[in-house]
Amino acid sequence: MAEQATQIHQAVSQLRCIGCGRTALPDRFRCEHCRDLLEIIYPGWNDRGPGGLSASSLKKLWRDRRSSLSPIDQSGVWRFREILPEIPQPEIITIKEGNTPVYELPHCARAAGIQQLFAKHQGMNPTGSFKDTGMTVAASFARQAGYRWVACASTGNTSASMAAYAARGGLHSLVLIPDGKISWSKLSQSLDYGAITCQLKTDFDGCVRVLNEVVERMPVYLLNSVNPYRVEGQKTAAFELLEQFDWQPPEHIIVPGGNLANSSAIGKALREMKQLGFISRVPRVSVIQAEGANPLVRTVRETGGEKLVPVHAETMATAIRIGNPASWKKALRVIRETEGTVEQVSEVEIAAAKAEIGAEGIGCEPASAVTLAGLKKLVRSGFVKPNESVVLVLTGHLLKDSEFTLKFHRGDLFDGAQQQSEGPLKPHQRAPLVLEPSVDAVIELLQSAEK
Ligand code: F0G
Repeated sequence: MAEQATQIHQAVSQLRCIGCGRTALPDRFRCEHCRDLLEIIYPGWNDRGPGGLSASSLKKLWRDRRSSLSPIDQSGVWRFREILPEIPQPEIITIKEGNTPVYELPHCARAAGIQQLFAKHQGMNPTGSFKDTGMTVAASFARQAGYRWVACASTGNTSASMAAYAARGGLHSLVLIPDGKISWSKLSQSLDYGAITCQLKTDFDGCVRVLNEVVERMPVYLLNSVNPYRVEGQKTAAFELLEQFDWQPPEHIIVPGGNLANSSAIGKALREMKQLGFISRVPRVSVIQAEGANPLVRTVRETGGEKLVPVHAETMATAIRIGNPASWKKALRVIRETEGTVEQVSEVEIAAAKAEIGAEGIGCEPASAVTLAGLKKLVRSGFVKPNESVVLVLTGHLLKDSEFTLKFHRGDLFDGAQQQSEGPLKPHQRAPLVLEPSVDAVIELLQSAEK
């Protein structure tokens, strides 16, 4: 089966500007005419479908690959290679990304006021975040294009992922991160994977500005999410999710919003699945941001989506501490097409939601928890009905930010005015207890816990 599968050709792709629609553009990240972002299209799909196969043949092929021993079939991204840009197999850098689980969250469903709630846990990727699904495609593209250096600006997860894929692929990597504003675990990852890691005395948006200049002047390949190959890889999470639902779409998919590439990727996947006949109905995609890092929410509410409202971003969910998101137009298109919405949530709401996801034995990093906090608001407003099925996209692993988790449980997360709103968090807090090494003391504690 694997032998036969690897014969099937990947798709021939083209770059198209999302603004002026021009195609056949040089391999850059913005349109040379109107400066808008680029996206990847597959002209051949109109005539013969991806890989020359129908939706039902592809569904079977992709499922069969799950039992293959070939490394690229074992990747939960390259398993779907018919819907990805063509990259020669020897150039593919894979760490067996994707194939992430879907979990049911019954307690969180009850807390939100709905009957069925699922989490697609993208934090279960090799470096602990959803970034791996896009990185395998874009890093492989960099290698086959002959680049020796790759680079990104990051709030921590992109850099961890890029450093890992660069190391596996024999590439050098340069990381720019905001000094003191990313979690230690993420910083330690890029160090361990051997990246040159620079902490710039600015925020994420400042790191992006510096890096954009650097890649203009040096032969370094940019692996930020403006890179359309990353978006293609991230698309596979939605294909995999629908496969896990036996191609019966849920009513809602809820995604955290930072630089807004992930929501764009998921929406592109849904659009393609509908176009190719994999599904007959598209779920609504809604994007949730932290109140302190809410440029998309403000863009929708203040300008009707016409003009980006950049903000000075501030949130403890450092992964999404982004004020000037690159992919805002792509994300808005997804929200409009799927009739989704945007919502914002407070720091206390994020902390409570994160603890609730943790208490289900699953856990996630703070940025991922905005999805549950947002869902609660969307149920209260009537946008999500109690009988509708909802999938939260959990983007990062619990261990990505253990400092946040420890501070939360010790009651040290908030200070000043915010501390007063911490009351509702108390039932979720489980501070570690320090005891004498006495059997009686432990038994006494157990007995009081039982009550
Ligand atoms: N969740 C996590 C855990 C993230 O790391 C990010 C983005 C997002 C959500 C938002 O995704 O940007 O596609 O809207 N992290 C980037 C980084 C920016 O550098 O790691 P988005």
